[in-house]
Amino acid sequence: MCSRRWEWSLTLEILLLPHLFLATNIQGHSIYAIPGNNVSLQISNMPQNPRSLTWFYTTDQKIVEWEFGEPKYFDTNFKDRATLDRQSGALHIRKVQKEDSSTYLLRVLKDTGDEKEWKISLVVLDPVLKPVIEVKKTQKMNSCNLTLSCVTQNQSVTYTWYWESGSFPKQLQSSVLQKVHTPQDYSKSYTCQVSNPISSQNSTINFTSPCVLASSSGVAWMASWLVIMVTTLLNLLWT
Ligand SMILES: *[C@@H]1O[C@H](CO)[C@@H](O)[C@H](O)[C@H]1NC(C)=O
Ligand SMILES: *[C@@H]1O[C@H](CO)[C@@H](O)[C@H](O)[C@H]1NC(C)=O
Ligand SMILES: *[C@@H]1O[C@H](CO)[C@@H](O)[C@H](O)[C@H]1NC(C)=O
Ligand SMILES: *[C@@H]1O[C@H](CO)[C@@H](O)[C@H](O)[C@H]1NC(C)=O
Ligand SMILES: *[C@@H]1O[C@H](CO)[C@@H](O)[C@H](O)[C@H]1NC(C)=O
Repeated sequence: MCSRRWEWSLTLEILLLPHLFLATNIQGHSIYAIPGNNVSLQISNMPQNPRSLTWFYTTDQKIVEWEFGEPKYFDTNFKDRATLDRQSGALHIRKVQKEDSSTYLLRVLKDTGDEKEWKISLVVLDPVLKPVIEVKKTQKMNSCNLTLSCVTQNQSVTYTWYWESGSFPKQLQSSVLQKVHTPQDYSKSYTCQVSNPISSQNSTINFTSPCVLASSSGVAWMASWLVIMVTTLLNLLWT
């Protein structure tokens, strides 16, 4: 049983060898983190008793190398932030920065003398900011033609609109939503969500009638802030 498994894995190895590059790509996966996080880059099928381990930031920049004794850390951005766990082969990186985003490479020399590589890509991203909903409306008779735009400073985000139509939940993946409201048929609330792989934020607007928005607490807050600003400015001018 055990020896058959051994044979099988040997065959697989030989089959994969000419396609080593492809094989490492297939095994690779992405890890997402926000700046300041601690991350561990790790493979699940670490070979037993490896002769050596090397982690690369890019194909030509070594972070750490272990052959025997203590691991050797190279003079890189990672010098005081990365630690190699010899047992699992994991590379622990503290306080990741955006510049740490890369496809990392782990090269292992197995006890059989074969060399094997794994690729893991790390993407360090800021969280998205809360979106702002811009409303353009034109009233025609009783109906209201609406263009709702979800705006954020961020790029490479996914936009999703959520609303209800006849008490059925609806959604649309787009930054702009066009709707025509009639007194008989309109949604009282629209939520826009922006997300990237590590975070998500949303904003909601409410309607009290087909073409009238409920005043939001955000707007109210803006108004009182303006009053304070203006009062302060007037005070400054008078003194
Ligand atoms: C990262 O790890 C360090 C020490 O290993 C710890 O002090 C710190 O709290 C950790 N930070 C986070 C965000 O987990
Ligand atoms: C989102 O935008 C803010 C402000 O421009 C920026 O600080 C942040 O890095 C951006 N986040 C992403 C994921 O792009
Ligand atoms: C609503 O407005 C958009 C753009 O302003 C326009 O393209 C669309 O035809 C209008 N729809 C109706 C039903 O008036
Ligand atoms: C909007 O955000 C709140 C809190 O951040 C969350 O509870 C809610 O599920 C989100 N709604 C949508 C539609 O994503
Ligand atoms: C919209 O209505 C919901 C539920 O009625 C409420 O929780 C939310 O605060 C309202 N949002 C705005 C911006 O008025």
